Amino acid sequence: MNSLKSTVKKALINTKNNLEYNYLSLFPTKVDIMSPAFIQKPHQILHKLRKVSPIHYLPKQKAWLAINYDDVVTILTQHESFSSSPFEHIDNGVFIGADPPEHTRVRDLLKEHFSYQQVIHFKRTIEYHTKCFSEKIKQLKQFDLLKDLAQPLTNTIIADFLGIDPNKTVEVRDNKQVYYSLPTIKPFLTNGGFLQNLCQDERFSEQETLDIIRFLLEAGLGTTQQALCNMLYITLLHPQVMDEVRNKSELIPRLIEESLRIEPIIIALPRLTLKDVQFGSVMIPSGSLVYASMVGANRDPQKFEQPDKLILHRHSPKPLTFGLGIHQCLGKHIANLQLQIIVETLLTDFPTLRSVYPLSQVELGTDILSRGVKNFKLTF
Ligand code: HEM
Repeated sequence: MNSLKSTVKKALINTKNNLEYNYLSLFPTKVDIMSPAFIQKPHQILHKLRKVSPIHYLPKQKAWLAINYDDVVTILTQHESFSSSPFEHIDNGVFIGADPPEHTRVRDLLKEHFSYQQVIHFKRTIEYHTKCFSEKIKQLKQFDLLKDLAQPLTNTIIADFLGIDPNKTVEVRDNKQVYYSLPTIKPFLTNGGFLQNLCQDERFSEQETLDIIRFLLEAGLGTTQQALCNMLYITLLHPQVMDEVRNKSELIPRLIEESLRIEPIIIALPRLTLKDVQFGSVMIPSGSLVYASMVGANRDPQKFEQPDKLILHRHSPKPLTFGLGIHQCLGKHIANLQLQIIVETLLTDFPTLRSVYPLSQVELGTDILSRGVKNFKLTF
């Protein structure tokens, strides 16, 4: 364990030594993957970069960018070579920013609650909340998909699933004081709920429990709502697909997978190389920051024929929207179940659902970890 920590430390020092100047001659690009311009329209840029090389050096980020599916799979699955703790200044926590064995221990203890078998018991509750929101929306002439539906509905569902006061989820997520100690967080937790049980679980230290709660709220709240907005946007762009799915609800899981392949909410995930790694002719030295791009991998023409098109009946590998490897999204079953039920309800209850403004005017927001459609007014 200590040896892993010291490798990470040495690796970070290497990065500081400005090794990047050696790489500029390889595949430098002016692209700034954090810039609003890139985040809004990354696809054309990535297709152009891909023609030059699958791996690029980003001087602005002092990091490497991997765009192709196979390389992204390598980065996400080979955790012995790619640490999930790439930023020295960021508190690693026990989840996304942790490596084995800490990460394995925590994940093993939590994974049962997030398994498909466990999540499916929650179906009725999701259906109930979704129906209530659908009735509310029916009273309106038009509605903002994010603010009036996606945000409050998915917050209510996740609050119920985790066992936290649904009216206080955002307040709890954003208020650092709440994570001070177990007594400061307990008043917000529901009796007998998952998080309250977690607080009594002696296998976790107090700090671990607080980290887990903070991270679950962060990971659970923003993601599904943004995913719902992106997939409805893509679906409305393809009315014929929408009609097909309305008549065959068994196609909804495919619609979710395919629309989130086209517009995943995460642009790229950061990793730190723990040893020298070779990608084709490019050698990335130990201690380098690498971004594995979901947006790039999900539209890799080597894996997805006509990658920019929404095609429900594909025979291609799984998109990487939910990540892969030991950190693959723990919440993917609860996220998918919510999306399935909400989309099915919307398609059934609102047969004439459409955008208030031309879809060409709809803009995608510019957050690297929650990219997508923000101001989307719908009517029916
Ligand atoms: C459509 C919605 C969602 C998407 C697209 C998504 C995406 C992802 C991705 C790509 C990762 C991997 C990060 C990495 O490898 O560094 C991840 C991790 C994670 N997600 Fe999600 N997520 C979603 C919803 C949720 C929900 C609803 C929850 C919980 C209630 C959740 C909990 C987590 C957790 C705990 C991890 C960390 C797993 C680990 O490090 O072992 N996610 N998510």
